[in-house]
Formats: sequence, structure tokens, C-alpha cells
Amino acid sequence: MRKLITPYAADFGKPNIVIKHFPDTESYVQILRINSLKNEKVIIYHRLYPEPEKRLFELLLILSQVKKETKKIELFVPYLPYARQDKSHRDGEVISADVLCKMLKSYGVKKLITYDCHFLPRPGNFKRCELPIENKSAGKQLLAHAKKYFGKKEFLVISPDQGSSYFVENAQGYALHKKRSRINKHDIKTEVCMVECGICVKDKNICMLDDIIATGGTIIRAMEHLKEKGAKKIIVGATHGVFCGEKIAEKILKGHCDELFITNAILNQNNSIKILKLSEK
Ligand code: R5P
Repeated sequence: MRKLITPYAADFGKPNIVIKHFPDTESYVQILRINSLKNEKVIIYHRLYPEPEKRLFELLLILSQVKKETKKIELFVPYLPYARQDKSHRDGEVISADVLCKMLKSYGVKKLITYDCHFLPRPGNFKRCELPIENKSAGKQLLAHAKKYFGKKEFLVISPDQGSSYFVENAQGYALHKKRSRINKHDIKTEVCMVECGICVKDKNICMLDDIIATGGTIIRAMEHLKEKGAKKIIVGATHGVFCGEKIAEKILKGHCDELFITNAILNQNNSIKILKLSEK
């Protein structure tokens, strides 16, 4: 399998795709030694976040050229953006997850490999809009870090909602329920309201695991809930540190969180967060 690596995935190997930007910010792409790819199996390593629209367009530029040489193309992107709108709740709402999958398929991607994809229920092999997807999970890695952190001390593993409940299954963990209450026609306020199975968290150490931290709202509300119920120490791990907004990681750490750890699925440079390196594709 031949590796094609963009500069945004340089931590997975030496880039052999050049991406530059013209003065007007448009992207320039050159795939080095492209002739050597004739009919070869190829895997493209890329990141689609931050600046997802720009990274996506650059990916289309890459694919448009690579598919002229070979039809055997796999794509590895550790975090898949546009995956969160995976259902239509109102008339006219676009399902961006479907658009993305169709686009990748039509540009020649035979298999997408990603981590803890928001619209997939667990790790494994799936298809969406005919696009084969291998969904890997950083769950075990996050849990191993929590074990190291707590050492001989016991702890409970909890996910803040049902969407990430598979993270805690192998650790006999628990999932909170996230109750959604609409505050007006346009906005949806979400809040965590109960702990499944009536589990007692009083005086317990907690490791909370989620797939994504975006605004931080889910994690912060879940921590408040657990603290109200008497939880002792809480640490928080997530695969994807999207952190959209001002000082989200700081807000989480200033709350009830003793340690915040994420993976390098999205590159973050924040000394107060522990970053775990994803194992090679
Ligand atoms: C939801 O289903 C996910 O598992 C995350 O809990 C959610 O995306 C986190 O978003 P936020 O940080 O904005 O609350």
C-alpha cells in the first residue's frame, strides 16, 4: 500500500503531497512522483479539521488527480467533520453526513478510515451512502490512560450521553441520559438529567469518556451533575478535541475536572491538556 501524506498529517509520515496557498488564499496542490502510483493501492493521510471546507476542497483536488492513476484509493482522516448533522429533524434540513460520504465516493474513495465517527454507533465496518467506512475507536487508549492516572485507586467509567455509551461498555461503565429541551424555535438547549441504573457516584472517582468535545456544554453539565451527586475526582477524556469557542479546555479544567486528555485526531497545542498519540492507522 502506497502512502500519500498531506502536510496536515505530517505526524503520520513524511508528506509527499505539496499544499500551498496563493495570495488570494486559494489552494495549490501537487502530488509528488504521481506517475509511480499507476494501478497501485494508495492510502491518503489527511486532516479535515480545522478549516474543514478548505481541507475538504484540497482533498477533492488531490483525489481528482490520484484517481487518474489508480482506482484503489483509501482515505484516512482521524476526525470526520460534517458528521454531526446525520439526520433531518425539520423540513429542508440538509444531512451533511450523507453529502460528505457521497462526495468522497464519487471522487473515487473506496474506503474511508476514521476514528469514533459521530454517526456510527460503535467501532467496526459500516457503509453510508455506499461508502465503506472503517470506524476505529480511541476508547481503549483513553481508558488505558485513565487506569494509569488513577493507579491502584478504583474509578467508575461514565459517558455523558448515549451516543458515546460504547466507550464505557468494555469497562462495565455507565451512560448518562442527555435530555434535550427546546428553548425557542431555533435553539436546542441540552442538559444531562439522570444517571442510568441509579448508580451511586458518591465519593467515587470518575473517568468520563466522550467521542467529541465541541462547545464543552455536555461535559460541563455532566460534571456538574456528578458533583451534585457527590462524585470525588473527575477526569475527562475524548477522542476529538474540537473545542469550538473561547478557552473551552480552560472552562472544563476550571470546572470540576482534574485532568483533561484527548487524542491527536485533531491537532491541539494546549499545555494544560494531555494529548495521546493515536496508534498508526
Ligand atoms: C454527542 O452526541 C457527542 O457524543 C458529544 O457529547 C457532543 O458532540 C459534545 O458536544 P458539546 O461539547 O458541544 O456539548
